[in-house]
Formats: sequence, C-alpha cells, structure tokens
Amino acid sequence: MTRTLTLTRPDDFHLHLRDGAMLNGIAPESARDFARAIIMPNLVPPIVTGAQAAAYRDRIAAALPGSDFVPLMTLYLTESTDPGDVIAAHKSGVIAAVKLYPAGATTNSASGVRDFDKARPVFEALAEAGIPLCVHGEVTDDDVDIFDREAVFIDRVLDPIRRATPALRVIMEHITTVDAVEYVRSHETGLGATITTHHLIINRNHILVGGIKPHYYCLPVAKREVHRLALVEAATSGDPRFFLGTDSAPHSDDKKECACCAAGCFTATHTMPLLAEVFERAEALDKLDAFTGHFGADFYGLARNDTRLRLQRSDEPVVFPRKIETGAGPVTVFDPGFAVHWQVVA
Ligand code: NCD
Ligand code: ZN
Repeated sequence: MTRTLTLTRPDDFHLHLRDGAMLNGIAPESARDFARAIIMPNLVPPIVTGAQAAAYRDRIAAALPGSDFVPLMTLYLTESTDPGDVIAAHKSGVIAAVKLYPAGATTNSASGVRDFDKARPVFEALAEAGIPLCVHGEVTDDDVDIFDREAVFIDRVLDPIRRATPALRVIMEHITTVDAVEYVRSHETGLGATITTHHLIINRNHILVGGIKPHYYCLPVAKREVHRLALVEAATSGDPRFFLGTDSAPHSDDKKECACCAAGCFTATHTMPLLAEVFERAEALDKLDAFTGHFGADFYGLARNDTRLRLQRSDEPVVFPRKIETGAGPVTVFDPGFAVHWQVVA
C-alpha cells in the first residue's frame, strides 16, 4: 500500500476567503497547502471593478504575512459591468477570470445577472481576450426544483450562451450532477469544470437523514448518490476537463446553526487529506496529482507549480481540528463522516 505521496503543490480553482476578521482567520488554512487559488468575488458589496479586486488582493496578502500564496482575483459580473474595465483589469494582471452568478442563486448573489442578454457584450469581450468565465450554474426560477436547477441551467442558459459565443472559455463551477459531467464531456475544447471536495463525499442523505445537518448544506446542494458517483468517476478519470475547486466557503457557526442556515461547507483545512482518501478508495491515487496540480493550471493557461506537497498515510485515523476560531466567530470544519488516514507532512 502507498505510504507517501509527493504531489505538485496544488491550486484551488474556487475559494471563498471573505474579508476582515474572517479573512484573517481562515486564509492561513488554504495558504498552508495551496500555492494559488481563484478567489470568489461575492463579498458584501461584491468585487465589481478592477480597483476593488486589486484592493481585495492586497488585503488577502496582508492577512498572510510571509506567505507565498498567490490569490488569483475575479470580478463579479453584473448587468452593468463595463467590458472595458474587465479587459483593462486582465491586461494589468489584476484578474484571472470573471464570475457569473445568476441573481439570487447563492450566498451574496443579489447583484448577479437576471437577463443574460445584458451580459452579452462582456461575454464577447471575454471570448476575444481569452479570459475564462466562471459560472455558477443554477437557474433561480421559483418553479424549478432545487435539485434540478443545475441541469435546467445547462439547457436554458449555458448552452445558449456557448452557442452564441463559441470562443468563450467557460468553467462550470462546483458541478453536482451527472448531467454536468456529460455536458462537459460532450465538448472538446473551451469547457472545463471544477469539482469540490465535499461533493465527492456527500449526497443529499447526509444533509437530511436523521435530522437536518446544516454543515452539509451548500449550493449547489448535494444530489443523489448516482450523481456523487459520477463526480468521483469524473475526478478520478484523468480527464483534464475536470479539476479541483474546493468552494471552501466559511460561515461562522451562528450563521449555520440557526433557523435559516447559510450555504457553504468549509474544507480548506483538510482538503488534500480528504481527497487522498477519496482517490485511494476509488483506486485512483495516481490521478490525484493531475486533478489538484495540473489540469486547472493548464485550463487557465498558468504554469504548473514547481514546488511539491507531501502526504503520508498512517494506520491510525488522523484527527483534524473540529473548528477554526476566527475573530468573526468559530467555523466548523467539514466532517467527512469516515476515517481519514492521510495528512500533509512538511
Ligand atoms: C458560497 C458562499 O458561501 O459564498 N456558498 C456555497 O454554498 N457554495 C457561494 C457559492 O459558491 O455558491
Ligand atoms: Zn463558491
């Protein structure tokens, strides 16, 4: 049995770092193992201009003194985003991608896009400049069941956008369904998908059976087991269109353990050990390095990291912190519900 793994230092292609006291408390959890991360712009208010992205990048750097962690910034697309500002922010190296939230789809998405035609000038500018568009792929219509919102988004919104702008490079973020896996597989170029750590581990029973478990509630919500299995198959298949984006999304416990729980799972602390366990159980440990260290960088046109991360396997289960204390309150660390034998070693 494999006892040690030496991996390309991983990148996280979808991460929430928040701001202020929460940022200071949780940023080190990602910077410890990851070299770079695509930073989500859904702050309150959202990051909508290049100037705001640059200032946020500096606050992240200030939260990580002495760290070489590189935040890859994104802009939050609104119906009034100026394509010129996006192109300028990309040319000056401030942003790596633009993020599309359908209005109301998830945490802090009120300023997102309602009428996708209004975003067409930005889509065309992104396509021409080769800037990737990160997409939260869920419709928000009241009459669409929450478990169907991703599949319906593909048909009603994503596919029409991609047909109208074929050169647009799209990342379907945090995919949760076999429908999304098949949609990505049906396109040779220009389309990738991130898969989270937690969606490889939980299905909807984890959230709902035996009482509601708020720390498993995230968006897109975890689906049936058949979908989880499709995600594991995609992540461990060695297909370069699928790569890691943890969507680690911290909320303080008071926001999770209440009558209207915020959406988000926090996995930054132990994502690499959890993934090693998942890939080992799938008999695909040899595919982990590319999933966490190669394919995302390749899709984004970034050089792969030339540093390494080492993991070691022990016979005894590894104990991880249950909570991370931050100045904005404690954050519960995702509980995979099974023993994990892997840990990162220096
Ligand atoms: C994210 C958050 O909390 O900002 N929540 C989540 O459940 N994933 C937003 C998001 O990425 O949808
Ligand atoms: Zn997210």
